[in-house]
Amino acid sequence: MTDILPDETRRFLRAATSEPDETLREMEERGEDFPTVGREVGQFLRLLARAVDAKRIFEFGSGFGYSAYWFAEALPEDGEIVLTEYDEDELREAREYLERGGFADRAVFENGDANEIIDRHDGPFDVVLVDHNKDGYPEALAAVRDKVAPGGVVVADNAMVSGIQDFDDILAALEGDDPEMDDETRGIAEYLLTVRDDPAFETSVVPLGEGIAVSYRK
Ligand SMILES: C[S@@+](CC[C@H](N)C(=O)[O-])C[C@H]1O[C@@H](n2cnc3c(N)ncnc32)[C@H](O)[C@@H]1O
Repeated sequence: MTDILPDETRRFLRAATSEPDETLREMEERGEDFPTVGREVGQFLRLLARAVDAKRIFEFGSGFGYSAYWFAEALPEDGEIVLTEYDEDELREAREYLERGGFADRAVFENGDANEIIDRHDGPFDVVLVDHNKDGYPEALAAVRDKVAPGGVVVADNAMVSGIQDFDDILAALEGDDPEMDDETRGIAEYLLTVRDDPAFETSVVPLGEGIAVSYRK
């Protein structure tokens, strides 16, 4: 993870919040060489899910289930989280972790392209996490726009940085320029511009982890 917080700020956030459970701590070790959302964003996602009283959650890009585990902790027993993942092995790991936490009964595991899987799931969703291929973000937003419940939220990870996008180009695009961009950078920039200018959403970018864009569905 390319953390945008200064080390001292990150230490402060760690020290001021409670430790995650043993399974999450183990997942953090497993995730040392994998781009999870990271602990600070995970905590924030759980809080967000609790704040909107989430019953149904959809994830674009679940990896081995780290972000899904945080969400699952906030769901009621009859709640549902849909995990999507290209990689069968990662999805199998996600199932094992969620089983260990006692959350597998509220999880739906979908192997394949998240941008296709969303078409098989009706809304409304209370929370959507967009965290898959960066050039697929605009399509994901279009697909969920009318499936997010009023009062719900869409969260996009890597709103600011990742190992594969150009921060300066995204900033230039947001400020009204039209720089040459690779597909991933363009995907993030187009997502942020679209959601910013859509009157159905109210967006705030929170500089936790790699930056998350949190868009409230009016
Ligand atoms: C950044 S990781 C997700 C991390 C996860 N949200 C977490 O915090 O634990 C992105 C994952 O999305 C998967 N992925 C990328 N594009 C995808 C797509 N179109 N459909 C499904 N999975 C995809 C990748 O295989 C990878 O495991």
